[in-house]
Amino acid sequence: MARKHPKGLPILFFTEMWERFSYYGMRAILVLYITKEAIGNNPGLGWSNSDALALYGWYTMLVYVMSIPGGILADRVLGQKKTVLIGGILIALGQLTLAIDNMISFYSGLTLLILGVGALKPNISTMVGGLYREGDPMRDKGFTIFYIGINIGAASAPLLVGYIGETIGWHFGFGLAGIGMILGLFVYVWGQKYLETVGNYVPAKKIEGTKTNAPLTKIEKDRVIVLLISFIIVIVFWAAYEQAGGLMNLYTKEKINRVVFGYEIPASIFQSVPALFVIIFGTPVAAFWVKHQLKGKESSSLYKMAIGTIITGFGFLLMSGASLEAASGQKAMLLWLVGAYLLHVIGELSISPVALSFITKLAPVKYASIMMGVYFAATGLGNKLAGIVGEFATQAGEFEIFTGIFVFCVLFGILLLVFFKKLKALTHGAEDLKLEHEEA
Ligand code: PHE
Repeated sequence: MARKHPKGLPILFFTEMWERFSYYGMRAILVLYITKEAIGNNPGLGWSNSDALALYGWYTMLVYVMSIPGGILADRVLGQKKTVLIGGILIALGQLTLAIDNMISFYSGLTLLILGVGALKPNISTMVGGLYREGDPMRDKGFTIFYIGINIGAASAPLLVGYIGETIGWHFGFGLAGIGMILGLFVYVWGQKYLETVGNYVPAKKIEGTKTNAPLTKIEKDRVIVLLISFIIVIVFWAAYEQAGGLMNLYTKEKINRVVFGYEIPASIFQSVPALFVIIFGTPVAAFWVKHQLKGKESSSLYKMAIGTIITGFGFLLMSGASLEAASGQKAMLLWLVGAYLLHVIGELSISPVALSFITKLAPVKYASIMMGVYFAATGLGNKLAGIVGEFATQAGEFEIFTGIFVFCVLFGILLLVFFKKLKALTHGAEDLKLEHEEA
C-alpha cells in the first residue's frame, strides 16, 4: 500500500491551491464591493443587490464556461502545460488590474480572470490525470489529494482576503488575491522539472492509432456518451450543493441559532465549513473507496457518483428538519446546518474529484482537454441553476425547497443505480484495475 504519488502532484497541488486562494478570495468580496455605497470610507460601486448578484451569477458561470475554449486551446495548439502557465499569468494580471480603482480596470480585470481561469482550471486537472498510468488505482486518490489543495485555498482565502478587503480596502483585497496567484506561478515554474512528461502538446497524428481526422471508434463513442450522462449528474449535484453560498447562507443568517458559548458567530464564517470538511474528510473518504475497490466490491465512478448524490440529498433532509423546528418561530439548532454540510461534503467527495478522474480515464486522448472543458461548463450551469432554484424559495418557502431537493436527489440517485449496469457497460472496462506491481 506504500506506493508513492508522482513528484508532479505536489507541484500541481500548490499551484492550484494558490489559484483557488486567488479565485475564492476575490469571489468572497466581489458582491460586497459592488454593493457597498460609492462614498465614504472604503467606498464600493454602490450597485443594488440584484444587479450585483446578476453580475456575480454571470461571472461564476463564465469562468467555467470558458473552460471549453481553454480546453480546445490546450488540445489543438499549446498542450495543457503551456496553457496553464498562460492562464496563471492572465489571472495574476486580472487581480492586479482589479486592484486599480476605476471602472475600466474593473471590467478588464473581470475579463482577464474569466480568460485566465478558463485556460488554467480544466487543464491543470487534466495534467493531474496525466501523472498516472491507465488503470492505476492511485489516480482517484491523487485527485482527492489535489482536491484537498483546492479546499485549503478555498477555506483560507475568504478569511484573509475578506478581512483585508473589508477592513483595509477592497483594492488591497484584490491585490492580495493577485499575490496568491503569483506565488502559485512561482511554484509552477520552479516545478517544471517534475512535469516533463505531462501536459505536452501531442499532434493528433502522433497519438498511437489515431489519425488526425479519424472518426471515433464504437468504444470511444460509448465512452463519450457515458461521460455526457455523468455531466448531468454533475449539473444536478452542483445545483443542490451550491445552495450553500445562496439560500443556505441567508437561512443561516436568519433562522439558525448561531450562538455558541454566548457568542454569536457571523453567518459568513459558516461559508468556510464545507471547505474545512473537505480537508478533514478528503483522505478518509478516498481511502474508504480505494479499500472498497481492492476488496473487489463495486466502486466504479458512476456508482460513487450515484451514492454521492443520494448522500447529498439526505443533507437537505436535515435542512427540512431545521425548517420544521424554525416553523414555530424559534431559531433552529446549529447542528442541522453543520450536519447538512457534512453530508454535502461526503457527497461532494464521492462525486467531484471522482468525476475529474473519470474524465481523464474515459475521454479519447485527442479530446481529453475539451471533455474536461465541457465538464467545467456543466459545473457552471449547475451553479447558475442553483441560483434559480434558490430564488424560488422566496415564493415556495424554504421547507418546500429543501424537501424538494432531498426528494429529487434521492430519486435521481436511485434511478442511476437501477440503470447502473447498463451505464457501466458503456465504459468498456476503462476503470478495470490494471496492477503491474502486487504491492499496490
Ligand atoms: N471547490 C471546487 C473547486 O473550486 C468546485 C468546483 C468543482 C469548481 C468542479 C469547478 C469544477 O474546484
